[in-house]
Amino acid sequence: MALKGKRIIVTGSASGIGEATCALLRERGATVVGFDRTERTDNVDEYHRIELTDFGAGNASIKAAVEAFEGPADGLCNIAGLPPRGEDAALVLTVNFFALRRFTEMIVPKLADGASIVNMASLAGFGWQPNIGVVKKCLSLDDDADREAFCTEHDVGFPRSYFFSKECLITWTKANAMRWHDRGIRLNSVSPGPVDSPIIDDFVAAFGEKAKTDIERVGRPGHPEEIAPAVAFLLDDESGWINGTNIAVDGGMEAIIFDDIHQFSN
Ligand SMILES: NC(=O)c1ccc[n+]([C@@H]2O[C@H](COP(=O)([O-])OP(=O)(O)OC[C@H]3O[C@@H](n4cnc5c(N)ncnc54)[C@H](O)[C@@H]3O)[C@@H](O)[C@H]2O)c1
Repeated sequence: MALKGKRIIVTGSASGIGEATCALLRERGATVVGFDRTERTDNVDEYHRIELTDFGAGNASIKAAVEAFEGPADGLCNIAGLPPRGEDAALVLTVNFFALRRFTEMIVPKLADGASIVNMASLAGFGWQPNIGVVKKCLSLDDDADREAFCTEHDVGFPRSYFFSKECLITWTKANAMRWHDRGIRLNSVSPGPVDSPIIDDFVAAFGEKAKTDIERVGRPGHPEEIAPAVAFLLDDESGWINGTNIAVDGGMEAIIFDDIHQFSN
């Protein structure tokens, strides 16, 4: 019961990785507060509706959800996210990065000192280092910036915007690791490879043969229940000295890409 007595916020609590995380956190003794656009109350101790596409112009839904929540909480898991679906590149970037950042910044005052924040990134964000120039420009945009114009200017179309949103998230997590250090609040990210959740078909459709080959190379996709333990570990006090890190949970896919780039095995 390593998380006994802790109260943890989980966005994306209704499905997939968020759902598996809620189950594990409760199993380990935590009380879970779910935030999702889909109303689901059976797997959490408290539920708040949030619509992360409702962003900008006052951030009405995010603001209402934060106001409805009575703190404190000992942890925040930002798991809600859009897959590479449809053609709206800016919307994917908005939900997966800008709205997550806004929600986090608004809810931090309701976190307890010593809280842990875990952001669900992705193997798709692996390229944050070579793309750091554009990523930094994106991080410097405020909430009112014209994100469509930014995407057009920097050639962040579909499905690239999914990758780019996760590059921004990994970078933002590292860049902000010390931001709330005076309160003992730390930030880390977790990067799964393809996971057998309801959105896996979107990845395969968007990335085609490449997605299938990547999965074949490690033998199978991951399961949501295999991602949740990394999140739980980062919430636990035993990981208290880990801050600003991105943990890959992908059966070795990141290592394979690393090898493809640097050709160690040839
Ligand atoms: N499935 C994968 O292969 C995979 C791989 C790497 C990273 N991820 C990331 O993991 C996270 C969870 O994905 P999943 O696979 O569990 O998907 P999922 O679709 O099963 O779950 C996503 C959850 O987020 C909620 N959500 C989505 N958009 C929202 C919005 N605009 N406002 C509020 N809630 C919203 C959904 O209602 C859902 O409950 C995402 O951030 C995704 O990018 C997934």
